Order: sequence, then C-alpha cells, then structure tokens
Amino acid sequence: MGSGPALPARISLIGFMGSGKTTVGRILARALGLELIDLDSMVEESAGARVARIFAEHGERAFRDREAQALASLASREGIVVAAGGGAPVQERNREFFERLSTTFYLRVSLATARRRTRGSAERPLLGRGAGAVRALYEKRLPVYRSFGAEVDTEGRSPKEVAGEILRLLGRPTGSGSPAGSRG
Ligand code: S3P
Repeated sequence: MGSGPALPARISLIGFMGSGKTTVGRILARALGLELIDLDSMVEESAGARVARIFAEHGERAFRDREAQALASLASREGIVVAAGGGAPVQERNREFFERLSTTFYLRVSLATARRRTRGSAERPLLGRGAGAVRALYEKRLPVYRSFGAEVDTEGRSPKEVAGEILRLLGRPTGSGSPAGSRG
C-alpha cells in the first residue's frame, strides 16, 4: 500500500511484556499491507497448547526451543511483521534474526506501565515470579532490547500513535499527522 522507500523483508517488534507488540504490529501490518506473525501464537499452534501450559508442563526451556524454531522458520519469509515474545531477543540463538534478518524496533515501556497493562494476564507465567524477579528481568533485558534497533517510546501513546512513529521511521508516514490506521 502507498509509495515510499522499499520495505525491509521482515520487520520485528520487540520489548517487554505489555509494550504492545502485538497490538502495534497488527496496525502496522495493516497499514503496510504485510502479514502479522505473532510468535507466541506460532508456538501455541505448533505445541497445540497455550504458553502458560507449555511453561507449566514442559518448562521454560521447552518453550524457548519452540520459540527459536518458530523464529528460524521465519528467516526465509518476506513481507512480514513479527511480534516477538518478550524473551525471544535475549536468547543468543535468536540474535541473528533480530540483528541481521529483520529491521527491528524496540517498543519501550516503563516497568510500572508494563505491570498495569499485563495485570491479571494468565498467559504470562514469568510475571507470576514476584515483583523483585520481574524487575530484575526487566533491567537485565533493557540493554539487550536497545542493542537491536530503533527505540520507540510507548508511554502515554496509543498503539496507533506508536505504529505511526514506526511508519515514519520506515519512511512511510501516514500523512497530515494522522495516526496510522485511523482511516482503516
Ligand atoms: C515472555 C513473554 C511472553 C511469552 C512468554 C515469555 C517473556 O510474550 O512469550 O510468556 O519471556 O518475556 P509477550 O511479550 O508477548 O507477553
């Protein structure tokens, strides 16, 4: 859709749980006429089970293996927007994808906002580990997220506004300051 610079073959959105990767990804994909791939959903389909159940029954390691497999299968796909799970970029085996095989945007969210947005989520087993552990995870991951690409702030912004900034960074602004997707 529209004209502008050629799009990267793959666009990835990374960031902590609650940063809005899937919601923003959906808007972005629609605006660009690309396909949204939600990595967690891919894993769930391949496992035939929800994320929380994979963690509970097989452990985090089994989840990470499936996640890495799903991501690797996207290396040959083109025209996709990938909403990655929050832990995918911190796995060394996934580095190449985010670093070389996709144009990656890091959606920044404060820990407080992330907590608020994910409150009551049964599908995020890592958030059940207690406030201190979640803070440690957040602080450990930030520099990794940052190292992969352009940082886009999500604080106090709607998903449409965040998608709009990414479109602008891709050289595909939606025009006249209107937020991405506002015209459907
Ligand atoms: C995880 C984030 C989740 C999901 C799993 C582990 C993480 O995805 O992949 O619960 O390690 O941060 P979202 O970031 O989409 O919530």
